[in-house]
Amino acid sequence: MLESAIHSLLLRMGPEAAHGLAMGGLQKLQQVGPALQRFERQHRLVDSRLVQEIWGRQFLNPIGLAAGFDKDAVAVPALAAMGFGFLEVGTVTPKPQAGNPRPRLFRHRELRSLQNAMGFNNAGMESLKRSLAENWPPPVPVGVNIGKNRQTELPAAAEDYRVLVRHLKGTADYFVVNISSPNTPGLRDLQRGEAVTELLEVCQQETSIPVLVKLSPDMEDQTIADLARAAVDGGAAGLILTNTTVDYSLVPEPQRIGGLSGRVLRRRSLEVLKVVASEVFGRCVLISVGGIESATDVYARLRAGAQLVQIYTALIYGGSRLVCEINKELLDLLDKDEVADVASAVGLDV
Ligand SMILES: Cc1cc2nc3c(=O)[nH]c(=O)nc-3n(C[C@H](O)[C@H](O)[C@H](O)COP(=O)(O)O)c2cc1C
Repeated sequence: MLESAIHSLLLRMGPEAAHGLAMGGLQKLQQVGPALQRFERQHRLVDSRLVQEIWGRQFLNPIGLAAGFDKDAVAVPALAAMGFGFLEVGTVTPKPQAGNPRPRLFRHRELRSLQNAMGFNNAGMESLKRSLAENWPPPVPVGVNIGKNRQTELPAAAEDYRVLVRHLKGTADYFVVNISSPNTPGLRDLQRGEAVTELLEVCQQETSIPVLVKLSPDMEDQTIADLARAAVDGGAAGLILTNTTVDYSLVPEPQRIGGLSGRVLRRRSLEVLKVVASEVFGRCVLISVGGIESATDVYARLRAGAQLVQIYTALIYGGSRLVCEINKELLDLLDKDEVADVASAVGLDV
């Protein structure tokens, strides 16, 4: 009751202010042990059919929080208690940066979508490391999504990624090389085979922790397939598909800034997963993200080859009970098709 009242209040506020307030609330919650435990009892669904072992870590369910929600890793215990199987924090850059001027986050409420031009606003790697270290090891696997500072010229980008991995390797279950945000000028130019190979090499010189690459949906299918193969050949432990889209034709009266997420991205994100799965399924972990809002969506992504999925926009519109509800319905879908567990659903349609 109280939760749904808070949720509708948040949706009546400006999107960035609402996000700040929600994050503040989560931080308060995690300071009070008994309240956090009660919250977890109400939100976490425990069922062995949802569990997978990946990279030697246990993922209690396949639903993760996508990057950008908790950029500075300030609410890891509370977000874990919300029932996620894993969390991705960041994007973090070496130095703190303010991001783009506001307003930079917009709702397309009737389309259950968001448009953001945040520009990697974050408190920098020192701050992220302190926050993660306070709660390490975390209750669920935590990936760290890394990006270059806006000021760093493209030829020097690899050094930013190197510094980030070197600094943060003690507090990450996996890293994600983010080269697909549309809000850092030039970043998407790193989505070329040689650049990806170099970035992976640099990261792997620093750590043996899994390194993943996050790709954009705004490339030709063949280009995406080639890039996915180059990344896996270069040692990527996984691919995250996809970041936001700059296909502004997906919304009426488009503002041509930032990237679109949520329901308008769903179809393309699934398409990209299928393209990539047909190229590299079985050679690395595929994580699908983009417009996932129901158990039917999750089940379709698993069958299409994703071992894990992530959500962001649906959480804004669906509220904090969403993860638990999706997991519950996912079990029903598995039962209906007589599929034993999540792991057995992965790749059924590939
Ligand atoms: C406000 C906002 C900020 C985001 N920030 C990041 C980010 O810092 N790094 C990143 O890799 N993706 C970022 N994303 C993209 C999401 O991680 C995700 O790939 C995308 O939103 C598609 O998923 P969804 O449709 O479930 O939202 C952001 C998305 C939103 C809406």
